[in-house]
Amino acid sequence: MEANMPKRKEPGKSLRIKVISMGNAEVGKSCIIKRYCEKRFVSKYLATIGIDYGVTKVQVRDREIKVNIFDMAGHPFFYEVRNEFYKDTQGVILVYDVGQKDSFEALDAWLAEMKQELGPHGNMENIIFVVCANKVTALEMIDCTKHRCIDESEGRLWAESKGFLYFETSAQTGEGINEMFQTFYVSIVDLCENGGKRPTTNASASFTKEQADTIRRIRNSKDSWDMLGVKPGASRDEVNKAYRKLAVLLHPDKCVAPGSEDAFKAVVNARTALLKNIK
Ligand code: GTP
Ligand code: MG
Repeated sequence: MEANMPKRKEPGKSLRIKVISMGNAEVGKSCIIKRYCEKRFVSKYLATIGIDYGVTKVQVRDREIKVNIFDMAGHPFFYEVRNEFYKDTQGVILVYDVGQKDSFEALDAWLAEMKQELGPHGNMENIIFVVCANKVTALEMIDCTKHRCIDESEGRLWAESKGFLYFETSAQTGEGINEMFQTFYVSIVDLCENGGKRPTTNASASFTKEQADTIRRIRNSKDSWDMLGVKPGASRDEVNKAYRKLAVLLHPDKCVAPGSEDAFKAVVNARTALLKNIK
C-alpha cells in the first residue's frame, strides 16, 4: 500500500482522510475552512498559531468520509511547527489572494516546502491539490484600494498545468466554497478507489507544457520583440517565421490552455506593430 493511502475501517464504505491547507499568511485559509464547516465569515484577522485541527464528516456517493483538517499557519515563523504535518496527506488546499501577487508567486515555494518535508520517498503524485484563488468578489466591494492582480486565466493555467483543481473562491460571500470542497472530496475518493493514483482525466492532459510555458512567457514579455521571441531589429522574415510558429501553437482552435486566446491576440498585435516599422 502507498505511504499516503488513507486508513479504511470498512472497505468500500467509510474512509478516513487527511487534508491540509497551505499558502501565505492572511490569504484566507482559515476563513475558507470556517465558511465551509461553520457557514460564517470572520472579517477580523486572527493569525493561525502553528496549526489548527478539526474533524468533519462528509458524504461522497455511498461513502461516509471522515475528514481530518489540518489548517496550517502561513507565516514563515511557524515553519518548524508546520513541517511535522505534511506526511500522510491525501488532499491539499493551496490558497492565494488574488489581490496579492506575492501570495500567487509563493505557491511554488509552498510545493517545494512540502516536497522537502516528504523526503525522497514522498510522492506528491498521489495527492489531490485544489488551488483556491481567494477573495475574488470581496475586493471590489470592501477594499477599493486593492485590485485583482492575478486574473483567472493566469491562476488556472498555473493550476491546470500541474494537474491541480482550480476554483475562484470568496470566504466572505461563500462564492465557490461548497463547489470547491465537493469536487475536492470527490477527487480524493476517486483517487482512493483508483489505488492511490490520480485519475487520468486531469485537465493537464488537454494542453502541453510547451503551450503553458509559452503563454506564461508572452504574459511576461517586455515588448513586441520579446513577445515573438526575436532579437530587436530582426527582419520581416524572422518576425513572420516566429509569428507562424506561435500561431500554430496557440491558435484557439488548437489550444485549450487558459489564457491562450489572449496570448494569441497579443502575438497578432505584436507582429502587426513590428511589421509596420520594418522596411
Ligand atoms: P494565517 O493563519 O496567518 O496563515 O492566515 P490565513 O490564510 O488563515 O488567513 P485568514 O483566513 O485568517 O484570513 C486573513 C484575513 O483575510 C482576515 O482578515 C479575513 O477576514 C480576510 N479574508 C479571508 N477570506 C476573505 C475573502 O474571501 N474576502 C475578503 N474580503 N477577506 C477575506
Ligand atoms: Mg489561518
